[in-house]
Amino acid sequence: MSKQFVTAAQGKQENQKSAIVLQDRSHLIHPQHHPSEHLDPQIWESGEGVMLRNLEGEEYIDGLSGMWNVYVGHGRRELVDAASQQMSRLAFSTAYAGSTHRPAVALAERLKELVYPGIEAFYFTLGGSDATDTSVRTARFYWGAQGRPEKFKIISRKLGYHGSTIGAAAATGVEEFSSVFGPRANGFLQIDSPYPYRFTTNRTDVSAGVAAADLLEDAILREGPESVAAFIAEPVQGGGGGVLIPPADYFPRIREICDRYDVLFISDEVITGFGRTGRWFALEHWGVEPDIVQFAKGITSGYFPLGGIGVSGAIKDVMDRVDPAKRWMHGYTCSAHPVACAVALANLRIINEEGLVERSLRLGERLLEKLQPLKESAHVGEVRGLGLLAGIEIVEDKATKARFPESSGIGKKVRDKLLSLGLCTRVTDDIICLAPPLVINEEEVDRIADVVWTAVAETVGL
Ligand SMILES: Cc1ncc(COP(=O)(O)O)c(C=O)c1O
Repeated sequence: MSKQFVTAAQGKQENQKSAIVLQDRSHLIHPQHHPSEHLDPQIWESGEGVMLRNLEGEEYIDGLSGMWNVYVGHGRRELVDAASQQMSRLAFSTAYAGSTHRPAVALAERLKELVYPGIEAFYFTLGGSDATDTSVRTARFYWGAQGRPEKFKIISRKLGYHGSTIGAAAATGVEEFSSVFGPRANGFLQIDSPYPYRFTTNRTDVSAGVAAADLLEDAILREGPESVAAFIAEPVQGGGGGVLIPPADYFPRIREICDRYDVLFISDEVITGFGRTGRWFALEHWGVEPDIVQFAKGITSGYFPLGGIGVSGAIKDVMDRVDPAKRWMHGYTCSAHPVACAVALANLRIINEEGLVERSLRLGERLLEKLQPLKESAHVGEVRGLGLLAGIEIVEDKATKARFPESSGIGKKVRDKLLSLGLCTRVTDDIICLAPPLVINEEEVDRIADVVWTAVAETVGL
């Protein structure tokens, strides 16, 4: 290729990019929209396996699996075929009471085999936020249908992320998701997270995990158990917390407390479901079962929007037994979308046949092992991970665990450096988050670790 030709081609590409960006800035509103974050956006064009390619033809490792969701990697023909075949046969049909279709029934059956044994029945949404709303409404419905409508409060955790609808944002423990949108929905409150690196307690009689879980008991007693419907938590806090892995005794104690006070336990497995942490569902690590489990993301690897909730037999019984006039009056047009269900079935088949759950555990251990020595850096406070979910927390001062001042823009500098080295991922509150596709191989894991090392060395120093 002559230099002249390359220059001309590059010029054409630059013009093309400018035109797209101009139209984008004029007419497209983005999640977490702000033009200052969008001065030179990436225009993603294609993907294959763990790699993403932009308009300029530059390739990056997809260090966050898109939005923590592309488990089986990009460019999977099986999922394209599943969608195309279902669209050709029956692109849409309602799943409201009185109608059903085979993909939804088959998916519910498959989930019954994969999810916690006590979970009996499933409702499908379009994503995670509406799954949160559905869980919250279902918990309130459950108590209301049993003559306890005053039991409606929802307890969640600071730094927890549950979505951006009115209800899901009210459960979310990150203030920015609510403060600019007027008053929060009524009946939501938050307790501190079990953030092993930063959690402090005056208690000396119990472990930090138990002390953190007991904050739930304190909150239930303060509010009055007769007013609390449910506790909602991510097994590993992802988007809001920057990959927070609880101590092993945290969730067993949470389960005990929920049982003691008749409070439903909702496990938000939108990030942790379907093998991300090295188990099909993450509470399996600690031998705990929820009353409601909610999921999205990995169920279709992002090839089609789908989320949902699974409920215990006790909840399903209440839903089945109420008077028809007092039924669970909840529903979305695209609930149990047949194409989404067909894609989910094909995606779960791949996860199972390719052993991606075990792979996540094995390669997650390898990633953590390669990253662990980074803890020797003067500015790396903690390196943590579970399965293919990892967080590297950067601090200014390791002795005090103080973060760099926001004005330093260190998180953005690290993210840009990672990108310049070929790794596209998220840095939340100076925590490098990693959640690559579960199909990643050893060599690619090692490349991620090398890039993170170099980026840390060149931004904050080793
Ligand atoms: C744990 C958790 N719950 C809920 C959501 C909301 O899901 P969605 O963005 O699909 O609405 C997310 C999204 O990142 C999430 O991580």
